[in-house]
Amino acid sequence: MSSKFGFKRFAALLAVIVIGSLLLAACAAATATENAASEIPKPSNAGGTGPAVDLAGDATAGAAVFTANCVQCHGDKGVGGVANPGSDDGTVPPLNPIDEGLVNKDLKVFASNVDLFIEHGSTPEGDSPALKMAGFGDQKTLTPQQIADVMAYVMSLNPAK
Ligand code: HEC
Repeated sequence: MSSKFGFKRFAALLAVIVIGSLLLAACAAATATENAASEIPKPSNAGGTGPAVDLAGDATAGAAVFTANCVQCHGDKGVGGVANPGSDDGTVPPLNPIDEGLVNKDLKVFASNVDLFIEHGSTPEGDSPALKMAGFGDQKTLTPQQIADVMAYVMSLNPAK
């Protein structure tokens, strides 16, 4: 009787351990996929979103802003291919297609991800990158409306899937 009881307790304990480890493994796997999905590129320069995220942008006007301010580094229509010696990547990232971590079906989130780079700028990884992105918002090179317009243009090149 007592040995039977002991076996039952042992079996119950074993079950708890097995189910517990399975749950832990499942949680770890879920966290791993979540992290992969939430790898949103952030600029090296700190700061929050600017006023442009609350403005309606015009993609046609943004195309002109892009030609005047972004093409020399991000390429015609943002397709990239511009060398950036001294950076780990070796080239300036393309914006067409843009890093998929920045894209979001919620256009407000998509705009916010892009806005941080345009507001504050970013220095790419590497010993001495020849090209660094300037903070167009912080330096007031572009007005909030121009930033909203150029974001609308960049987002129009990358329709969220
Ligand atoms: C002097 C070159 C230069 C100019 C001009 C420039 N950028 Fe950039 N941009 C860069 C570099 C270099 C990076 C990569 C930064 C990093 O890796 O941290 C970058 C990154 C970005 C990113 C993030 C892309 C990613 O994959 O992480 C966006 C969005 C962006 N730029 C938009 C713009 C827009 C819009 C303009 C024009 C208003 C512009 N850039 C002008 C050099 C430039």
